Amino acid sequence: MTNRKFKKTVFLLNAFVSIVSQSAVTDWDWWSCINTDAVEIPAHFLWGTAISEYQNSGADCCTNTNWSKWEDEKKIEKSGKACDFWNRYPEDIELIKNLGVNSFRFSVEWCKIEPEEGKFNKAALDHYVDLCDKLIEAGITPMITLHHFVNPSWFDEKGGFEEEKNLYYFERFCIKVFEHLSGKVNLWCTINEPTIYVFQGYLRGVFPPGKLMNMPLALRVLKNLLQVHTHVYHSLKSMPHGDTAQIGLVHQYLVFEPYTSWNPLERVPGLLFNYVLNTGVLKFLKTGTFNIKIPGLGEFFSYTAPKDKPLMDFIGLNYYSHPLMKGQLSFRDPLITTNYANEVMTDMPYRMCPVGFYKAIKHMSEFNVPIYITENGIADAQDKNRETFLRQYIFAMQKAIDEGCDVRGYYYWSLMDNYEWDMGYSMKFGLYAVDHDTQERALRTSAHYYKNIIAQSKAA
Ligand code: BGC
Repeated sequence: MTNRKFKKTVFLLNAFVSIVSQSAVTDWDWWSCINTDAVEIPAHFLWGTAISEYQNSGADCCTNTNWSKWEDEKKIEKSGKACDFWNRYPEDIELIKNLGVNSFRFSVEWCKIEPEEGKFNKAALDHYVDLCDKLIEAGITPMITLHHFVNPSWFDEKGGFEEEKNLYYFERFCIKVFEHLSGKVNLWCTINEPTIYVFQGYLRGVFPPGKLMNMPLALRVLKNLLQVHTHVYHSLKSMPHGDTAQIGLVHQYLVFEPYTSWNPLERVPGLLFNYVLNTGVLKFLKTGTFNIKIPGLGEFFSYTAPKDKPLMDFIGLNYYSHPLMKGQLSFRDPLITTNYANEVMTDMPYRMCPVGFYKAIKHMSEFNVPIYITENGIADAQDKNRETFLRQYIFAMQKAIDEGCDVRGYYYWSLMDNYEWDMGYSMKFGLYAVDHDTQERALRTSAHYYKNIIAQSKAA
């Protein structure tokens, strides 16, 4: 067979498989799934919940950062002291324990640990030592994220992740944290969602530094973030406890889908984003090479990790939705995100999409490393869809596990209502509702379902 014929056959086969598998996954019996209470999850599975420091302690605590500056400059709701997690963590650990989870993912805040360049704050490091000790005492395995969207101002003033020469500063900070905590903590995430950091900060302009559709800079930063992940991974692995630590990168699997598959208006815009935000990174995780050249842009964004070493011990998968793009007759908003009639829209501008979650897990399992679902959750202020969300998404995860995917843990986002970045406090993702004036926390009805699932799966 000639090379061309071979390629054509592979293409047709692929198309056939994707049509067949598409109908196979959408054929699920959602009603029986919704009525299924029992899940069968492997014995050592980590059931958890996740937060980030800035979203839960706010700008009053995490001062001198790209985000506190952004809040001051922009007309967005201010984070203030958020849930005051920095001070209330001992009580909040009780709330975590009450859920029955056996793991908790949180981020350490760089600005607290290194408020000035090269000056490390021992008290802040000890704060995290105490948080980890208290979690461990409560039977909860800590999972640490080293970077969750927030940079100290001194780092940003040097150009932050836009400059390759600055990567060293982040690596030095990670080494410091690892020195202090690796005796207690085994699970480490280097960077939370490099693609979302660039999408929101350099393409949509709704996160600092607020650049709008700056593709060259977005690609440069993305390349640098993947590069620094590799540097950090290799450095930490060579330190005491490095050989036993599990260190991974957290990727948000975000793929846009057209409402009408034949409509180029709805299909084409997603193609570029899907390539930059998903395919390029997944290729890097598979091959160790990040290589993107957008036609018409002079620069070539390229990095190849050392070939003789692994890139990660696990992959952290954050999954929310496959947003559905629909065209409309409007000059201002020619495209909106929507849902099909039989689907539910969340409070965020995307639909519930459990089938997409299944597809994402299947895709991520191609890397042959364990997967942790480091974030999955729904913004649902009325708490009317959260239980169904949990039932359907956990069902989807179960299906992927049954088919051989090595999923080791699931962290619901989020423990409690917190600061949803540019959306402020309007988005309620929490298992606990929070009154930000009184700091009262109240368990939501849907959280009982999560508690039951965990209890049953532990008993099985
Ligand atoms: C981020 C979280 C955010 C969540 C919900 C993820 O992209 O890691 O910080 O709160 O999505 O929007």
